[in-house]
Amino acid sequence: MTRHFEVQPGGGLTGRVRVPGDKSISHRSIMLGSIAEGTTHVSGFLEGADALSTMNVFRALGVRIEGPDQGRVTVHGVGLHGLRGVSHPLDCGNAGTAMRLLIGLLAGQKFGSTLIGDESLSKRPMRRVADPLGRMGASIHTVEGRPPVRIEPVPTLRGIDYVMPMASAQVKSSLILAGLYAEGETVVTEPAPTRDHTERMLEGFGVRLTREGASVRLRGGQPLRATDIDVPADISSAAFFLVGASIAAGADLLLEHVGINPTRTGILDILKLMGASIDLINPRTVGGEPVADLRVRSASLRGIAVPPELVPLAIDEFPVLFIAAACASGRTVVTGAEELRVKESDRIAVMADGLRALGIDATPTPDGMVIEGRGATGPVFSAGSIASHGDHRIAMAFAMASLRAAGPLHIDDTLNVATSFPGFVSLAAGAGLKIAEAG
Ligand code: S3P
Repeated sequence: MTRHFEVQPGGGLTGRVRVPGDKSISHRSIMLGSIAEGTTHVSGFLEGADALSTMNVFRALGVRIEGPDQGRVTVHGVGLHGLRGVSHPLDCGNAGTAMRLLIGLLAGQKFGSTLIGDESLSKRPMRRVADPLGRMGASIHTVEGRPPVRIEPVPTLRGIDYVMPMASAQVKSSLILAGLYAEGETVVTEPAPTRDHTERMLEGFGVRLTREGASVRLRGGQPLRATDIDVPADISSAAFFLVGASIAAGADLLLEHVGINPTRTGILDILKLMGASIDLINPRTVGGEPVADLRVRSASLRGIAVPPELVPLAIDEFPVLFIAAACASGRTVVTGAEELRVKESDRIAVMADGLRALGIDATPTPDGMVIEGRGATGPVFSAGSIASHGDHRIAMAFAMASLRAAGPLHIDDTLNVATSFPGFVSLAAGAGLKIAEAG
């Protein structure tokens, strides 16, 4: 079944919205809750296909999980060594986070597992976790570096000291999870800061880890104690509205209860450098994660050279940042973002094609893009059709382009929007976007 968006120009964005729960934190709440001792209560859980894939995998591994019911989930933890193997493959769907973190977690089990994914996930690189896990003594088999992934049991894992070649929270988290099962100490050092939800949540589960500069260090064998987790709204989903309200005339929008962990707020810093008007209201800490309401109003955006150190802190937000760049005055240059080429789609190629289809001068480079902004007022995109390549964030980014389009936009293959943002169409329509979905 394929679905598509039809988006008419002339929409606006006003009022208050709460976007769904954070995808990264939702995945981790199931994983850590499952291997904890005791019962973990989760609220604000993302009922999107990706996090549900993780939930189904842990159910298959013998964990009793109740929900989700309006964002509430109860995980009856089985302890570090309580998971049970199954003979059938475990399906991670579209979720790279599920697969990469699971490879690390399953590497230390006394049973073998096979992980599979959908067409997009089946093309994504897994050596980035298989290689360092191999150094820990794990037995991981891929098909030329890609899924399906077979994990054979080994007698023991050994802690290693690993310097990651790329900035990836998934790789870091995978090794930390394997480190829980390893003899001795595991040390992971990252080349640039990436999201630290695994580290924060493990501390919430009572695990002792040491964070020194760019390194995380933990000793294997530590038990996790169940806890309660309140999942904030996902800043990566809020990002579509942060950009939408910045580029739309007369917009004034309040985004409620958004996670503003400093390893995720690159989008705020980049938009502010471009001249956006974003206010953080009532900053607070909820379950170890910083949260605030974000008020965003229309602004005259300027093109910038995006500082490369902000790239890993906004890695999922580039599709919509490219839309912001087209609606700015002057040129925007993104470098150091080659990781975008191995996301749910090649987000550099797919976004450049889509922007050009709508009349924007966008030049893809090996590690980023150069976009000539068409000015901060009036229509900048022509009417047209976009191939989303089944990538949720590409589809939602182009939906926001309608706010500055001269005619209707047709965005194909939108089913996967539900992986991270179930209810996107009705939420966006309620806030003023002229969007409809058809199938
Ligand atoms: C994620 C990490 C990021 C991000 C993904 C979620 C996570 O991937 O793109 O959507 O939850 O750890 P990388 O760490 O591979 O960059």
